[in-house]
Amino acid sequence: MNPESCTLRLAGLRKSYRVGEASVEALKGVSLDVFSGEMVALTGPSGSGKSTLLNLCGLIDKPDAGSRELCGTAINGLDEIGLTGLRREKVGFIFQGFNLVPVMTVFDNVEYPLLLLGVPAPARRELVMTALQRVGLEAFARRLPDALSGGQRQRVAIARALVKSPALVIADEPTANLDSTTARQIVDLLHELAHERNASVVVATHDERMSSHCDRVLHLIDGELQ
Ligand SMILES: Nc1ncnc2c1ncn2[C@@H]1O[C@H](COP(=O)(O)OP(=O)(O)OP(=O)(O)O)[C@@H](O)[C@H]1O
Ligand SMILES: [Mg+2]
Repeated sequence: MNPESCTLRLAGLRKSYRVGEASVEALKGVSLDVFSGEMVALTGPSGSGKSTLLNLCGLIDKPDAGSRELCGTAINGLDEIGLTGLRREKVGFIFQGFNLVPVMTVFDNVEYPLLLLGVPAPARRELVMTALQRVGLEAFARRLPDALSGGQRQRVAIARALVKSPALVIADEPTANLDSTTARQIVDLLHELAHERNASVVVATHDERMSSHCDRVLHLIDGELQ
């Protein structure tokens, strides 16, 4: 594939966590290229390093060794400000626990990434309502997250992730605890995001309903890609 269509390049990533005196080696040298328009599933047993790898992909955490490149920018050379700017512009996150701000309305939750990017108010309104329509929740814009079902909250989280049209979407167990119909909607939305908007989607999942719809399925065992 054309290297220019490569959203994310990971080479030799290692990551350990200190637990008291001991050290847990969570990733033992992971290399991976993710291309635009591609939806990749990351599977593997509990504790195999999926969330650790996603956090490195999404620039939330730093590796102990190895290199990363996001949309052609080498991450190792960036300071904290450069890192934050790149993450805000390029990466959307979807977590199992939704991570919505409970005191903010659905609209305000989805708008927040655009505020951070300094998008002017009229454009923000338009983008937020388009994203909410996309996930079928435009009628819920003024509600608080508490007044929504789990599946609706996850759709708000997806609207928040896609509102800025990120190059890379990271999703950690996005269908855990959701019923089949809702899980299917989430899979379809992520799929469209990758294929219609040419984004790269990396999704950690134990859920066969999810991985069977991905373009590529990767297995992580004990901190190594198989
Ligand atoms: N903050 C942390 N401090 C110490 N150890 C950690 C920390 N986060 C993860 N680990 C350890 O690193 C390893 C990989 O954890 P990780 O959360 O990446 O696994 P996972 O594949 O996402 O698991 P799950 O499917 O249960 O979500 C595990 O041994 C875990 O105990
Ligand atoms: Mg995990």
